[in-house]
Amino acid sequence: MRKKIAAGNWKMNTTLLQGIDLFNEISIRLNEIQLSGVQVIIAPSFVHLAKFVSLARLNNSICISAQNCSHEEKGAFTGEVSPEIIKSTGAEMVIIGHSERRKYFNESDELIEQKINLSIKTGLTPIFCCGESEIQRSQNQHFNTIKLQISKALFNLPPTDFCKVIVAYEPIWAIGTGKNATPEQAQEMHHYIRSLIEDKYGMHIAGATPILYGGSCNSENSDALFKNPDVDGGLVGGASLNAEEFIKIIRSLAAN
Ligand code: PGA
Repeated sequence: MRKKIAAGNWKMNTTLLQGIDLFNEISIRLNEIQLSGVQVIIAPSFVHLAKFVSLARLNNSICISAQNCSHEEKGAFTGEVSPEIIKSTGAEMVIIGHSERRKYFNESDELIEQKINLSIKTGLTPIFCCGESEIQRSQNQHFNTIKLQISKALFNLPPTDFCKVIVAYEPIWAIGTGKNATPEQAQEMHHYIRSLIEDKYGMHIAGATPILYGGSCNSENSDALFKNPDVDGGLVGGASLNAEEFIKIIRSLAAN
């Protein structure tokens, strides 16, 4: 059985106090409903990681993730945050290759590969994001785009490292737009991604790799998305900033 995962990507939102309120509300509700079988992840700002790690340790099993990391191990890189520094806060995961990083910070597949390698070496679990643009989809290039992104960033990993990766399919046209992929589009792409992994690493690893959907996932569409056999959860942006909404999404994941 694959892990079901609900990850909240808070992006550049919430001050420390707002974040603590939101985190507490989510964890209180999570404790009330006592779900089993869903791993809940929250990715706050770098500067709040240590605080949320200590809050998570106090009350439940929420896992804390960074939203990005440096591709360099250490040294004179002002403003950068290495996987080792992230790990030292107690955070266990890191989102890598988000389309906002690719678009606004010109992150290439090569750079993303370096980040993946370094994060695994450091003992962090990478949540690797891939996704096509609206134009690429309209030109029927979506499968090819995803294949290239995945093979460049992940397929040089030995099987023992690949199996530490969580994949997130996030079509760019669906992120923050209110226009989610249909359940059929999500299933089709997730199935394709799993078949790529199977070709490269075999059935066992492909069957065990969690593939999350991201892009305007909310409590209205999560049920239909999570019903799909290859959709193992969600990477949720906007809707994870509202505790009630995020909990509904987690509940629908647990039910499917
Ligand atoms: P969204 O963001 O849910 O606000 O569309 C998802 C993401 O970027 O991870």
